[in-house]
Amino acid sequence: MDLREEIARLKEERDAVILAHNYQIGDLQDLADFVGDSLYLSRQARDSPRKTIVFAGVRFMAETAKILSPQKTVLLPDLEAGCSLADAITADQLRTWKAEHPGAVVVSYVNTSAEVKAETDYCCTSSNAVDIVRRIPADKEVLFLPDMFLGDYVRRMTGRKNMHLWTGDCFVHTRMRPETVRRMRALHPQAELIAHPECGCTTEVLDNVDRVLSTDGMIRFASETREPEVLVATEVGILHRIRKLNSTTAFTPLSAEAVCPFMKKNTLEKVRDSLRDMKFEIRLDAGVMDRARLSLQRMIA
Ligand code: 13P
Ligand code: SF4
Repeated sequence: MDLREEIARLKEERDAVILAHNYQIGDLQDLADFVGDSLYLSRQARDSPRKTIVFAGVRFMAETAKILSPQKTVLLPDLEAGCSLADAITADQLRTWKAEHPGAVVVSYVNTSAEVKAETDYCCTSSNAVDIVRRIPADKEVLFLPDMFLGDYVRRMTGRKNMHLWTGDCFVHTRMRPETVRRMRALHPQAELIAHPECGCTTEVLDNVDRVLSTDGMIRFASETREPEVLVATEVGILHRIRKLNSTTAFTPLSAEAVCPFMKKNTLEKVRDSLRDMKFEIRLDAGVMDRARLSLQRMIA
């Protein structure tokens, strides 16, 4: 039997929904029931009537789905699909940081472990980080983690002075530096540049980048733009969907080397195996989930 047919049959048998992040390989995006950014997929995970969620993404995303739907079975097709950014801070490190800033409000990017979320007041994604920080009373100190580039961007957008940043980064996005932008600008002088806020080049955003957008923000922009050429500064997997949505604009990755090896762990075969053998199931401590849920519900609200 064809692999796609086998997956479709197993999906019905297991009463499953397949979610895929925008950075997944094209074949998985085409197969999935829903494709999108972290925020969109968290909502789909929460609202799906299906009993099983197969998360073609990375571990923190599957954990987020589990926290929001503890009664559902959440499967991650490859346990090695981690995230360098989520690994940049542990719950112990966060507790120490909080003790140094009593009364501060903790805002964590969704790329964090369940244990770190349990120590967090507000979770955010790249698409709502600025809005969430704007709503925190001006006299409150803010601890923002773990991504320093996203944090720096949020600090500039909100003009907030009392915001401390954890110095974590994503090893894929951090390599896209201002000098990468200068080199690509010289090669593509007419192109518009859109960038994910995790990129190292966003530190000079006002001079260098035309728009800073979450992955779904990029998809929306790409489907509407009439620009002849656009440079895309994020993980290259996003180009699959972007090019399907707009075949008249030329979309070029800012760096063809921006490939997340964790996202690329997932394959059609592993999704099939995951459904067939019900692996690898995400299991989390109930107390950690209860505390983490609060910060996630504020993000989704
Ligand atoms: P989005 O929240 O924009 O989907 O990004 C998630 C991510 O891991 C980016 O590297
Ligand atoms: Fe994590 Fe970076 Fe990969 Fe996104 S691209 S999942 S932040 S390592």
